[in-house]
Amino acid sequence: MQQTDRFVSLVPVGDLKEGFLSSQVVEGRAVVVARTADGVYVYDATCPHADFQFTAARLRGGCEIECQMHGARFKADATGEVTKGPAKEPLWVLESRVVDGMVEVLLDW
Ligand code: FES
Repeated sequence: MQQTDRFVSLVPVGDLKEGFLSSQVVEGRAVVVARTADGVYVYDATCPHADFQFTAARLRGGCEIECQMHGARFKADATGEVTKGPAKEPLWVLESRVVDGMVEVLLDW
């Protein structure tokens, strides 16, 4: 893992399959990376409903993250908004970018 500024290299974008989530750990924190037709997004891996930890899975319809615990769904985009309860709060979206084919996440925790 190579650190640049406060961003840390996470995973090569070429290792991410469109329509799927990838589980990663950065600085001891579990995160999930979603690759959709629109881009790459990084989230804290904890469901805001009851702290269930997301793992690598297929995105529902290629664009929604579904919690395996109680079925809440979230937009796999820059908002992480709830699209189906029981969750009421959005996913914690982590600032990220792609540099030279590598997904990087901002260390701000
Ligand atoms: S823990 Fe995710 S929907 Fe309940």
